[in-house]
Amino acid sequence: MERNKIQVLYDACQALFSQKGLPTFQQIHYLKNLLDKIEAIDVGIDEFGLCDSPVSDANVHGSRGLLCGRGFSEITYIHIHECDSFSIGVFCFPAGKVFPLHDHPGMTVLSKFLYGSVYVKAYDWITLDCTGCQTIGLGGRVVDEVITAPHEPTILFPRSGGNIHSFTALTPCAILDVLSPPYSQEFGRPSTYYSDIPIPSLAGYAMLEEKPIPNDLVVQGAPYLGPSIVTVYDHNFGQIDCDNHM
Ligand SMILES: [Fe+2]
Repeated sequence: MERNKIQVLYDACQALFSQKGLPTFQQIHYLKNLLDKIEAIDVGIDEFGLCDSPVSDANVHGSRGLLCGRGFSEITYIHIHECDSFSIGVFCFPAGKVFPLHDHPGMTVLSKFLYGSVYVKAYDWITLDCTGCQTIGLGGRVVDEVITAPHEPTILFPRSGGNIHSFTALTPCAILDVLSPPYSQEFGRPSTYYSDIPIPSLAGYAMLEEKPIPNDLVVQGAPYLGPSIVTVYDHNFGQIDCDNHM
């Protein structure tokens, strides 16, 4: 039986991120090509859906329905899978919402812009001081552009590609993210938020200063309604994956 695109993505992530050592450039490029083929409908989202509630009528679209891409009133995370090695999920934005500057400590992140337009600003650390109780340093801006789907997947690495980034949704939009390894407070990979203070005499650079999680940042959850995936756990224990039906 032909595997669905999310199953193919999961299988590739499992193979590449669970191996010893970091994936090679060719392997990351392979993953990028897989992500490039994925569309909103493949993760259970009708990008043109206008319903008031984010979930459309299941009878119209099949057994589990689809999420309505234009029905979100807050930033919404759709969890697809997470294990020790990687996570897969989708962030959906209503127009006008901002996901503030945040980092991805020690991570490789592949992002596929599924639909819509989003302004992306991203920095890499030039200098970094973590000796005090607050992280502060000089950031060099590497991305400062509007990305409109369809667009090739972007990749950021621990020290390059724009590891500290923010998103401003210009229209309803969605971003499919693969993070490896995933965020983990326990293993020293928390998500940290920053403010950027431009340096007038140094165009393209800013002081990045850690700040508390913004009070106005709201991220809701929504169920994943795309095709089920079979995980290594299912193979090992003969159970149906429950974490993609939350
Ligand atoms: Fe991010």
